[in-house]
Amino acid sequence: MSELTVRPATAQALPAVDLTTRLGDATFPNPVFTASGCAAAGQELEQFFDVRLLGGVVTKSIMLAPRSGRPTPRMAETPSGMLNSIGLQGPGIDAFLEHDLAWLAARGARAVVSIAGGSVEDYAKLAMRLRGQPGLAMVEVNISCPNVEDRGQVFACDPVAASGVIQAVRRNTDNRVPVFAKLSPDVTDIATIARACVNAGADGLSVINTLLGMAIDTTTMRPALGGVTGGLSGPAIRPVAVRCVWQVHQALPEVPILGMGGIRTGLDALEFVLAGASAVSVGTTVFGDPTAPIRVLHELAHALAQRGFERIEDAVGFAHRAPELYIPEEPDPVGDDEPLPARRSVGFEEDR
Ligand code: FUM
Repeated sequence: MSELTVRPATAQALPAVDLTTRLGDATFPNPVFTASGCAAAGQELEQFFDVRLLGGVVTKSIMLAPRSGRPTPRMAETPSGMLNSIGLQGPGIDAFLEHDLAWLAARGARAVVSIAGGSVEDYAKLAMRLRGQPGLAMVEVNISCPNVEDRGQVFACDPVAASGVIQAVRRNTDNRVPVFAKLSPDVTDIATIARACVNAGADGLSVINTLLGMAIDTTTMRPALGGVTGGLSGPAIRPVAVRCVWQVHQALPEVPILGMGGIRTGLDALEFVLAGASAVSVGTTVFGDPTAPIRVLHELAHALAQRGFERIEDAVGFAHRAPELYIPEEPDPVGDDEPLPARRSVGFEEDR
């Protein structure tokens, strides 16, 4: 480790909150994951913290063949966010299995492998290649990358196309390994797509991928990105992501959600949990603060404890519940009592 390497104390005790979370048939020790595309396969993060401390490491989407991606420039800053136009650059499944997944398995990390393809057959082959691989905890099926030449390849924009991919992946994946479909916010009704994926065999849903966006450089007066359009991420999209998690949880309350989109703090993560996410992915903020996932984990645990939650699962979807009705035991007929505070079985003192 170089002298410049910063490894913060990560063994700090977490408050006494049961953070274990179930995503399909898999149980994870805590609900904070990396987000696909923001931390490669986790090796670069290892100099900042022990990646085994996370719920899981979600890898950059991998395709069958090596791919060089889209033309540069591939990134552009935007207000409270960024655009990326990477174009699914990657080493291909063979090199990924040999170097990346093997490293995660040897390290003892829980690997969530994100896969992407141009056809149902591609996805089926990728799922088959992952069968029986050590370290594989879950498969995230990226059917929503906006950085493809043909919008027809954004399978998540069409319920029939999405179903075809998910069915193929589910059938070619070990039964005990959950398959999550990663959804796009760029649809009219995300719940319809979510339902189609679940009916096709998805064990859960990753909500959401980036939004299709664009920026124009006013000096060159040309698109800022080589690929013209890109995927918008970061805090700018958080309200959209929370809305999508809310809508999917409302439509399919029993289906686990891995929520993501602009999470920077534990309170941001809590917002997703209250909307219905059983776990969260921390993405774009990692570029500026590589320790963010572990910090978010600690902040989320404290935020849950402060609000009286003993288990994270009790907080999942909490915002959907109707407020408890307050009925005074002995009504004050004269009306000279102090105003009565609203009663909540779980609540945060500072909110009252
Ligand atoms: O361009 C990319 O590699 C991004 C992929 C994604 O957002 O799914």
